[in-house]
This record gives sequence, C-alpha cells and structure tokens, in this order.
Amino acid sequence: MSGAFFRVEGLTKRFGGLTAVNDVSFELRRDQIVGLIGPNGAGKTTLLRLVTKILKPDAGRIVFEGEDITALKPWDVVNRGICGTFQNMRPFRHLPIVANVMVPLNSPRAKSRGEWVKRMEAKAMDALEFVGISDMALEPASALSQGDLKRLEVARAIATEPELLLLDEPLGGLNPAESALLARSIKRLHKGGRFGRLHAEGPAVLMIEHKLKELMSIVDRVIVVDRGEVIADGAPDQVVTDARVIEAYLGSEHAAAAAALPE
Ligand SMILES: Nc1ncnc2c1ncn2[C@@H]1O[C@H](COP(=O)(O)OP(=O)(O)O)[C@@H](O)[C@H]1O
Ligand SMILES: [Mg+2]
Repeated sequence: MSGAFFRVEGLTKRFGGLTAVNDVSFELRRDQIVGLIGPNGAGKTTLLRLVTKILKPDAGRIVFEGEDITALKPWDVVNRGICGTFQNMRPFRHLPIVANVMVPLNSPRAKSRGEWVKRMEAKAMDALEFVGISDMALEPASALSQGDLKRLEVARAIATEPELLLLDEPLGGLNPAESALLARSIKRLHKGGRFGRLHAEGPAVLMIEHKLKELMSIVDRVIVVDRGEVIADGAPDQVVTDARVIEAYLGSEHAAAAAALPE
C-alpha cells in the first residue's frame, strides 16, 4: 500500500443513466492546497460528497492515512479528521450562529482531547472570527445572508480542526474584497497559522471554486474534471494552458455551461 495521506481509486457514482463521477483516481499530500475545478455539472460536488460519505459510491475506494474509509458513515469521517462544507447550506436556523459551529464539535474526536462546552465555545468563536462573522455570534442563523451562510459553513468545518478540509465554493456570494480576505485566510490556515485556539498544524485542503483568480493565487495544484473524469492535474500555470481544459470550459458543447459560470 502506498503511503499517500489521502487517495481515491476508481471512484464512480451514477444517478440513473448519468455517470456523474467516472472512475476518478488521485492522491492528495498532507502539505498541499489543491483546487478542484471544471464546468458546471462536471461532478465536483458529487466527488466531495462521496468523500464526506453523504453519497455512497457505486465503485471505487477512499483511503485516508492508510485506512480504507469507503464504508464509513459521515459522522465517522468527521471524527477521523475529514470535514467539508456543503454547496447548499442548511444551518439550524433558530440556533445562535455560535451554537451552529459547536454542533460538529460534540464528537468523540473533540472530547478525546479533553474539551468540553467552554472550550468548544471558545473554538467556535475563533472559527467565526476566522471567517469574519464573530460579531453576529449570538444572532440566530436565520439572520445570515447567503454569503454569510457560506462563511458559517466554512467556520463549522474548520472548527473541527480537520486533517483534510474540503471546501465547496467557499467564496460563493462574497464580494471581491471578502473573497480575497477569506482566500488568504484559508491559505494561512493551511500553512499552519494559528487562529486563536485553532490548528497548530494546518490541514490539507481540497477546494472547489469558480473564482479562479482567487483560487489560483492560493493553490499548489489544480485537478480539473469534466463530465465526471479527471482531464488535467498539475501546477496552476500548466493547467490553465492545457488544451483539454480550455476545450472543456470553452468548447461549443460547453458554451452554455461556461457562460453560466458564476462571476
Ligand atoms: N442527487 C442527484 N441526483 C441526480 N443527479 C444528480 C444529483 N446530484 C448531482 N447530479 C447530477 O450529476 C452531475 C454532476 O453534478 P455536480 O456534482 O453537482 O456538478 P458540479 O458540482 O461540478 O457542478 C450533474 O449532471 C447533476 O445534475
Ligand atoms: Mg457543485
């Protein structure tokens, strides 16, 4: 068995006659921040949902720190140190924002570190500070705008101090200044910057993002998917000049998808 930190092998997911993720394999390193891009409908969100176990693959394996985690439940995956954000946020709308961040901290992983409510709350506050909405901590989640809901999602994921952080369009709904700020914060978190009580050691990051300028400025590597398949994988400057990537984004069949790309 290879010693990769994380890898997927032959991952496949079908929805009826549609193969949304088709025989996808790649490895991630602990020390990398990796972008996952591709036209709308390429299968990016489905891929992340397979890793977080929201969806069950039809074929393939997911291996984390040498262990096959393909059959685990979502909660067990979080408990191992993999946490993601969802493209569609569903917070507990009536709970205070800070309580929303504390929910995923009520885990054996957090408890085994001797943490309980006060420290959970302190960590949740640090996570809200990280995304820039700590001033709203005691308001109900229903008070948040779409962009701020996105930030709540990111806060919930990073508060669990994952080894592998999966982000699905974390900059969606943020204005350019907010996007640049959050992108830089994600980079700093990855580099091992401390945020209050969070993270001495930064997580590996796999991040879907349509805002390519912000994404390319912080990633070490980009994986490009189109129609469920990996079509390129490499350094940002290599990938953006790759003929298959340009074709996927701009090719006539995808013109509508390319035009529909947000931002
Ligand atoms: N739960 C689902 N049921 C049926 N089809 C789905 C479901 N989720 C995604 N799909 C389809 O799978 C394809 C990939 O979707 P998705 O992973 O959301 O793409 P992306 O995130 O790259 O835009 C799309 O054609 C989408 O319509
Ligand atoms: Mg998506």
